[in-house]
Amino acid sequence: MIVTIDGPAGAGKSTVARMLAEKLNFDFLDTGAMYRCVVYQGNRQKIDWSDENALGKIARQLDLEFDGAAVLVAGEDVSSAIRSAEITALIHYAADNLQVREAMVRLQRKLASEDDVVTEGRDQGTLAFPDAQCKIFLSASAEERARRRTEQMRQAGKEVTVEEILEQQNLRDQQDEAREVGGLKAADDALHVVTDGMRLFEVVEHLERLVRIRM
Ligand code: DC
Repeated sequence: MIVTIDGPAGAGKSTVARMLAEKLNFDFLDTGAMYRCVVYQGNRQKIDWSDENALGKIARQLDLEFDGAAVLVAGEDVSSAIRSAEITALIHYAADNLQVREAMVRLQRKLASEDDVVTEGRDQGTLAFPDAQCKIFLSASAEERARRRTEQMRQAGKEVTVEEILEQQNLRDQQDEAREVGGLKAADDALHVVTDGMRLFEVVEHLERLVRIRM
């Protein structure tokens, strides 16, 4: 069975999807991490960002592995490096590149071909897995998402303001929504869940109920 969870940045998709996958005993696929790894490799190889073929080649040759919660590129644990502000600011180069998108969707389908999976991203229910048995579109208001992310970053010891985070988030929302291929969009048959005012465990329990109905 394939469960897709799409939605905007900061909606808590990764945490929720990971917990849901654990409860269901499904694999978990963090597709945002995949795009981040492509950018990470491009950055390390100091590619010319205007060269679409160079980034496309990196995507096709990406030696990527998920090991529990860790993401490995060529055997190196890049889990925290790929989530830096530097990589996030460059992410649109990978997300807007059609060669990269094609390589990522191909890899996602391969990774999901063997086991039950909860996959999380922007285009999972629309493009990658249009026939998924359960599609969820997870969102929250921009303010709530920014507030949660600020809290998370402060807990990680980073000095940030809600206003800063909201500004970066608005920019990424615009980029993600405007993308012609693989843009942020709910599938026609997706179930919409808005998580404002909900606790994490409530969201996970709600999604688990939705999935079990379809099992
Ligand atoms: O979920 P995230 O913040 O780690 O995703 C990083 C970026 O990757 C996001 O801004 C857009 C892109 N992305 C995408 O285009 N398609 C996906 N399925 C997942 C992420």
